[in-house]
Amino acid sequence: MSTNEELIGRTDINDLEAILSITNTEVDEVAHAVKDNADALFTWDYERTRPALGKLYEKAKKAQWNAQTDLPWETEVDQEEVAINNAIQAGGFGQGVDLSGTSLEKWGDKEWLHFAVESQNWTLSQFMHGEQGALVCTAKIVETVPWIDAKYYASTQVVDEARHVEVFAKYLDEKLSGHYPINAHLRLLLDDIVQDSRWDMTYLGMQIMVEGLALAAFGFLHQLTTEPLLKQLLRYVMGDEARHVAFGVLSLQEYYNQLSAAELVERQEFAFEAAVRMRDRFLQQEVWERLGIPVKEAVTLTMQAPERALFQQMLFSKIVPNCKKLGLLDAADGYLRQKFTELGVIAFEDWADTGEEYEQFDEVTKDREAAAAAS
Ligand SMILES: [Fe+2]
Ligand SMILES: [Fe+2]
Repeated sequence: MSTNEELIGRTDINDLEAILSITNTEVDEVAHAVKDNADALFTWDYERTRPALGKLYEKAKKAQWNAQTDLPWETEVDQEEVAINNAIQAGGFGQGVDLSGTSLEKWGDKEWLHFAVESQNWTLSQFMHGEQGALVCTAKIVETVPWIDAKYYASTQVVDEARHVEVFAKYLDEKLSGHYPINAHLRLLLDDIVQDSRWDMTYLGMQIMVEGLALAAFGFLHQLTTEPLLKQLLRYVMGDEARHVAFGVLSLQEYYNQLSAAELVERQEFAFEAAVRMRDRFLQQEVWERLGIPVKEAVTLTMQAPERALFQQMLFSKIVPNCKKLGLLDAADGYLRQKFTELGVIAFEDWADTGEEYEQFDEVTKDREAAAAAS
């Protein structure tokens, strides 16, 4: 087994100093090159032998939507109002945390409002960058996966991901008030996923870990927000994401059945590394930096907010059951179970996995059927 030091560059997973020392230094770069180290694989076996993937592919073809015409972009968005509402819904500003003697002690409504607005710009920016990661990773899967059914399905996901980048970029430009560069932890993770030469690692990193987390995070924000355009946007994106996570579960379930114990350990370690990177990315360190507040102090304070721990755990509510379904929790004497216990997220192991959930999440088809019934 590798040590924490080897996997995530620090011994203690909660070492805040070490986490915050990872920052994005290339904030002005316009292009970022990553070696993808993989062969493009042709297959001459065109037999459709994987009906579950075939079914998913048919569903995906019917559930396509147009980012430009299927969302109410004419909606007026008052970002300050939305930001305040979201913050109140999420438990209020700095509630339940003792701020006396800290840099935030003198903050009034104006400063908290500014923070809420920046926090929203940051959150949607990271969603956008993550979506581009999914676009690149899934294009790679089209090339590298050996099965024709998976190549077919992945091609629809490429279109989905382009649409997701498009909607988040448009929302940021037209409705919000500024972009943030990619968070350094997220970029490290995306780089690692793309660099790995093994085709299943792209799936594990992207479909299971990044998209599993995205599905939970979008669900959280969808519930929270009262802004109708964002709500509808997230509803449609989540419908697509549920298929993507199912694609990962269905593909890897088959493949992991035939891996050796040593090969499974590498997958477990990769899942652990990805989980830590994603947790670290949610600390919003760049927002505090932009507001000129000492980052370590601010992050320490936000971690104390009672709703914070719950939010952080909820992010893993899809990942943990999916890892269980893939046999990754218990292989190697329960290595990943132990790691997820240390991260405080093991309680989700018996929640619904995402192999079938996409059937209930088909929001686009639901809306079309409702519209047809009404006319
Ligand atoms: Fe996406
Ligand atoms: Fe996706």
